[in-house]
Amino acid sequence: MKICATVAETRAACRRAHTNSKRLGLVPTMGALHEGHLSLVRAAKAQCDAVAVSIFVNPTQFGPSEDLAKYPRQFERDCELLKKEGVAILFAPSAEEMYPKGEVTWVIVEGLSERLDGRSRPGHFRGVTTVVSKLFHIVEPDAAFFGQKDAAQSALIRRMVRDLNLPVEIVICPIVREPDGLAMSSRNAYLSPGERLRALALQRSLRRVEEEFRAGEKSVSSLIAAASEVFAEEPQVRLDYFEIVHPDTLDPVEQVSQPTLVAVAAYVGCTRLIDNIVLSF
Ligand code: PAF
Repeated sequence: MKICATVAETRAACRRAHTNSKRLGLVPTMGALHEGHLSLVRAAKAQCDAVAVSIFVNPTQFGPSEDLAKYPRQFERDCELLKKEGVAILFAPSAEEMYPKGEVTWVIVEGLSERLDGRSRPGHFRGVTTVVSKLFHIVEPDAAFFGQKDAAQSALIRRMVRDLNLPVEIVICPIVREPDGLAMSSRNAYLSPGERLRALALQRSLRRVEEEFRAGEKSVSSLIAAASEVFAEEPQVRLDYFEIVHPDTLDPVEQVSQPTLVAVAAYVGCTRLIDNIVLSF
């Protein structure tokens, strides 16, 4: 695995991999890798001839009171995992390398960037779409792999790629869960044993909505009321949002009449967790 810290060496390595092996896949990450990330790498390996991974804890997607400084970093362990998966190129730049001094250019997906997590984390999606478009320009992948857990992020990236005619296929891979149903996340490492148990409320609320939907309930207000009961039983989990929206536009819907995204974000202690399901017929 070639480890690159600069844009120039990454671009050169990716261009070489591209010519030698035709289809190049990119898995963008912020490190602290878990099975969810590795499932993206495996999907990329299955669909591409060579795989590049980026590890970059992107400062521009963290708000001033968020967890940038304490975000888990375990570079050596991540490298070992990626080597075992047969990754060809690892791009691990510094913040200075990614953001040249005085940079004033942003990529903003208007409207969508203020929905769901964008409403409670102002500027978050501007940071995500800016860094992902930079990664696309540096790596020039044929396909890029993201997790469905960040459903709103996936919608924004798909829309950015469409609107800017970027020549990259976006592949969204299923959520990977712990045996008890908790969606895998690097932030799960922050949870105390008690919080780890309480965190299951997110998954329970989604399951309750799925059950009501399967029993014939299509009204979004009734489905949200069912989810609220779960959070009422778990007062130490502070709901940020529970929304039922169109999976591409993230617009709220009133009735479930087509595949619909049910997304939740909640604070368990100081840790903000997200999860989602798609209701389909
Ligand atoms: O999903 C993530 O880990 C990050 O938002 C991403 C896509 C790597 C951009 O920093």
